[in-house]
Amino acid sequence: MKSYNIAVMPGDGTGPEVCKEGIKVLDTACAKFDIKLNYQEFDFGGDRYIRTGETLPDSAIEELRKFDSIYLGAIGHPDVKPGILEVGILLKARFALDQYINLRPVKLYPNVYTPVKDKGPEDIDFVVVRENSGGIYTGMGGVVGYGTEDEMATQIMAYNRKTIERCMRYAYEYTQKRNKKKLLTLVHKCNVMTHVGDLWVRVHEEMGNSDYQDIKQDYNHVDACTMWMVKSPEFYDVIVTANMFGDIITDLGAMVQGGMGIAAGGNINPEGVSMFEPIGGSAPKYTGQNCINPLAAIGAAQMMLETLGEDDAAKAIDGAVYDALASGKIKDMGAGKMGMTTTEVGDFVASLI
Ligand code: IPM
Ligand code: MN
Repeated sequence: MKSYNIAVMPGDGTGPEVCKEGIKVLDTACAKFDIKLNYQEFDFGGDRYIRTGETLPDSAIEELRKFDSIYLGAIGHPDVKPGILEVGILLKARFALDQYINLRPVKLYPNVYTPVKDKGPEDIDFVVVRENSGGIYTGMGGVVGYGTEDEMATQIMAYNRKTIERCMRYAYEYTQKRNKKKLLTLVHKCNVMTHVGDLWVRVHEEMGNSDYQDIKQDYNHVDACTMWMVKSPEFYDVIVTANMFGDIITDLGAMVQGGMGIAAGGNINPEGVSMFEPIGGSAPKYTGQNCINPLAAIGAAQMMLETLGEDDAAKAIDGAVYDALASGKIKDMGAGKMGMTTTEVGDFVASLI
């Protein structure tokens, strides 16, 4: 029997509730495929910060390194100033564990409402590979003349070739493994970002032409990409993009696929410890009401198994989510509108594995 050690960080607000359902479904799928998951819970999040002033200390990073994967609920607390927990926990884990890929599937399941008119599940099924360790998020830059009328601030989109290459390699490999349209679209802004955009363009072309000749290459400017995602989402298979562009277009992607109730993501270090999360946030006003949608957390659990190499168990979860939604019994993706409680949705999906 294969076994994995999973660090669980339920976090704030509704995070613990959705994590619980994710674990329920994980355990059901793993039992079927003879996999054992050993969980250890960590209480990092807003409450702990308020109590102790600690976000995610270096000692915790060292602890987390020992796990096979991290399963995260949600970070965000109404009584903590915006930025502290995001930077102190989420970005800290991403950078310290070098989770250089942010993987965000944009997939519309049956009976899920998309605001995109006349598009269905056959049209909306693509994946965004967002570079997750560089670019504007490195914080390079600075301020001179702070507070004066001559103040000048910079925040630099810094990329070296290696950082782009490792992301690009992952994106090509992923496109190959996914084996659908075999199309890797680079999204950037090379018409204006003539230095850093051009480096991305060259790495995309060079790597594709030499090592991935079976994969078709395309390029979209990021502004145009937001139009195409709405007008012709069927056009996409895999998108690879820089950190900030990926941040922006994946929120659009989440809406296109039916909202935050269903959107999941993975912060992946292909050679190290990855971290999976529903991307919807902590939704504090719904805490404890058993009404939040756990499907995004269940999707994150599925991505975790896939990344661990447990494809069969991952597919079983995806199939169960598909069947649960195809049944039409889950009425809406929004909190309080599902026609079922959080627990019932978890039970329902688990029962279909
Ligand atoms: C995300 C979030 C984070 C980001 C924030 C909370 C720092 O928006 O995971 O997309 O910008 O990456
Ligand atoms: Mn974001």
